[in-house]
Amino acid sequence: MCGIIGFCGYLDAKQELIKGLAELEYRGYDSAGIACFTERGIEVVKSVGKVAGLENKLPSRMESGCGIGHTRWATHGGVSEVNAHPHQCGNVTLIHNGIIENYHELAKELEETGRVPSSQTDTEIAAMLLDSLYHGDALAALRGAVDRLEGAYAFCIMFADQKDVIYCIRKGSPLVCCSSEEGSVVASDMVALLRYSKEYFVLPEYQVAKVTKNTITVMELDGTVVSPVMLSIHWDMSAAQKNGFKHYMLKEIHEQPEAIRRTLAPRMKKGEQLLPDFSEDGISDELFWDTNRVVITACGTAMHAGMMGRILMERLLRIPVSVEVASEFRYEDPILDEKSLVILVSQSGETADTLAALRLAKEKGAKTLSIVNVKGSSIARESDYVLYTHAGPEIAVASTKAYTAQLTAFYLLAFRFAYVAGKLSAQEVSEYMKGLDGVGELMEKVLEQKDKMKELSKRLTPAQDLFFIGRSLDYALSCEGSIKLKEITYIHSEAYAAGELKHGTLSLITGGVPVIALATQADVFAKMISNVKEVRARGAMVILITKEGNTAAIENGICDEHLVVPASDDIFAPFTAAIILQLLAYYTSSYRGLDVDQPRNLAKSVTVE
Ligand code: AGP
Repeated sequence: MCGIIGFCGYLDAKQELIKGLAELEYRGYDSAGIACFTERGIEVVKSVGKVAGLENKLPSRMESGCGIGHTRWATHGGVSEVNAHPHQCGNVTLIHNGIIENYHELAKELEETGRVPSSQTDTEIAAMLLDSLYHGDALAALRGAVDRLEGAYAFCIMFADQKDVIYCIRKGSPLVCCSSEEGSVVASDMVALLRYSKEYFVLPEYQVAKVTKNTITVMELDGTVVSPVMLSIHWDMSAAQKNGFKHYMLKEIHEQPEAIRRTLAPRMKKGEQLLPDFSEDGISDELFWDTNRVVITACGTAMHAGMMGRILMERLLRIPVSVEVASEFRYEDPILDEKSLVILVSQSGETADTLAALRLAKEKGAKTLSIVNVKGSSIARESDYVLYTHAGPEIAVASTKAYTAQLTAFYLLAFRFAYVAGKLSAQEVSEYMKGLDGVGELMEKVLEQKDKMKELSKRLTPAQDLFFIGRSLDYALSCEGSIKLKEITYIHSEAYAAGELKHGTLSLITGGVPVIALATQADVFAKMISNVKEVRARGAMVILITKEGNTAAIENGICDEHLVVPASDDIFAPFTAAIILQLLAYYTSSYRGLDVDQPRNLAKSVTVE
């Protein structure tokens, strides 16, 4: 939700800010703006729409080595130039990522002192508050503001009388910083730091970073200087670029076999038997011995990975496992104790609802383990245990490689847990692990057939409604296929447990309505085929996905299109079938001429409620 960047150094600040904003644009893309210190004071340029539009508006005379930039995902106030950041009030110019929850109350108080906002944003109120508290001492003003502000925020602030200095503070929303020969940089995401340095730090909550061109000084609010904990990025710039692919999403779909191998490698210790090993992650078997219940909570695609994890864990461990949408879980009163393990799943590690669910689980005394892609993110830092997925930077709003890397993490956990609990022998786990190790290769085979999906997508392009059906693991994957399709193609779609269709939804299946039926699981294959016949009998256009070897019962004419994933143990079929669904969504979106990587109204990292 919103990308923020600050640069202070030896290069042309406006150009650096534009480059950074382009890299952060996946976080929000309805408007953008920058502010720079120039010899004429602080100059601000804003524009509605994408960063490219802002770039075209920049005056060449805006010479500066220090400035801040913002790309917005609107929360308070519509999409307009006046609502775009930076916001200015008196001495203060700032950008913000987050939501100020008590802005209404603050606005009223400030209005009584004669300050009237010109925008509808909560951010302008924060700028007004800070200006009212600023009398030349930035720390004093920030202390006062922190006392009054409720909600989540990451701010980069320029005070008019402190030329070429940026102050940063955060609560809830992310902010990372790095120093380099070119200067000092702060941003919402390390992707925007990559060009400067691979060493960075996460600004701790309620600490202040004072950014100048040569240094970043981190202080407590009382002015005590502290040393930040440095982290290293193991990616290079190319990991965050399109590398010849038309879209990030297509590139990231292709990166999945590698992402899975990278996620597996540090956890595959080859001994006599191939067992998952979490010693490098600091996850000991005690965690498993001491657990009698697992709750998985997450949002969107990460939650769908959790649905798969639930089936697998419950099947292999025989203990209760449930999946909860984090935005609901956080406002319920979940029954948790020290024998409960709460697993949080998040690509970004910053999703506000998942973070709140984590905090609630800890408050209730549960053990917490997170499956996270972004190193050093809030969810990773606050969980008792972290199992990092090594998918690399995921830039497209539609999550693909993070999803299959999350599945990989769940399979590893389920196998280890089942072994520790004595539910699977070392040999059985070893067999499963070999299967998991081979998944990358199977996915490559599906990728080789991408032209089939491309061709088939032409049939989906005119659809208005579409249904996904499946049972067990295939149902969990249907949910993911459906969100992928709707978020980037804007086609209304729903995922149904195939057996549930006849309890109402079948009335929506009429002539030509596309139904994507997943039938990769042998134990429910015959039932699935019956469900396919039911929709077929109502005139649906059926795309059937089966697994090599499971095709015996497929009669002529049962479907319009038939796609087959390579043979494997049934439990690994979701990996290969996921690629088919991702490619169908991708090509359909392309044929519809849509912005695949940055679909309307969405943002990659949802750091607000
Ligand atoms: C998926 O394609 C999404 N755009 C979205 O559902 C995402 O998975 C969700 O917002 C959770 O994000 P996280 O993994 O960063 O927590």
